[in-house]
Amino acid sequence: VITVAPIQSSLMVAREIRDLILKTQKEGINCVLGLATGSTPVAVYKELIRMHKEEGLSFKNVITFNLDEYYPIHKEHNQSYNYFMRDRLFNHIDIPAENINIPDGTIPKESVLKFCEDYEAKIDSVGGIDFQLLGIGRTGHIGFNEPGSSLLSKTRIINLDKKTRMDAASDFMGLQHVPKYAITMGVSSVMKAKKIAIMGFSETKAPIIASTIEGPVTSECPATFLQTHPNCTFYMDLAAAEKL
Ligand code: GLP
Repeated sequence: VITVAPIQSSLMVAREIRDLILKTQKEGINCVLGLATGSTPVAVYKELIRMHKEEGLSFKNVITFNLDEYYPIHKEHNQSYNYFMRDRLFNHIDIPAENINIPDGTIPKESVLKFCEDYEAKIDSVGGIDFQLLGIGRTGHIGFNEPGSSLLSKTRIINLDKKTRMDAASDFMGLQHVPKYAITMGVSSVMKAKKIAIMGFSETKAPIIASTIEGPVTSECPATFLQTHPNCTFYMDLAAAEKL
């Protein structure tokens, strides 16, 4: 657990990602990143863009897998995670388009299962995720693994929790516009990452952060599974650490 101001945390995480990219470039191999959406990682992405523009950091060998996407949702919807990632990161760096993987919120229902199996297989086929970035939702979800998600869960379609949909209501201009489902990487897909950084800031996250770090490991709070990961760092500010 590291307790510092949000901007410091974001710089630390961005530097860790940069070091990993540079190391893999030296070795001539790919760097596989698991990426998250939400307000929390935005400053990390800003810093990575700065590193690209000012320090010439290249993302040509980077392959990314995003955690989740609303379902159904159009890629051009301004609340889709596809739009978010292009807007906040991908449009500003030199990552090859074919290296970007985001769950597809537009596929027909009957193809979702196959899509999820392929997504999981694709992660394995590039050697697994080297570095996974995570935020945390008020329900204890990582990605969109809502309470009830098991340690063995894989990439799949999931019903969003009421609390999660309420948290997204203002962004969607009303609860009735928030999709009821999402496609998310599973808990097991996340746990397979070689290294994980999870970030949570402000007092609104304090109760769920306390349960995540000090509570019993349970699918009622899927983030608690991270307690059993061998290489996971939790970054938070003092307000978020208040209930520890
Ligand atoms: C959404 C995302 C999560 C994210 C969470 C918290 O539910 N699916 O991946 O961690 O929001 O969002 P924020 O960082 O804005 O608090």
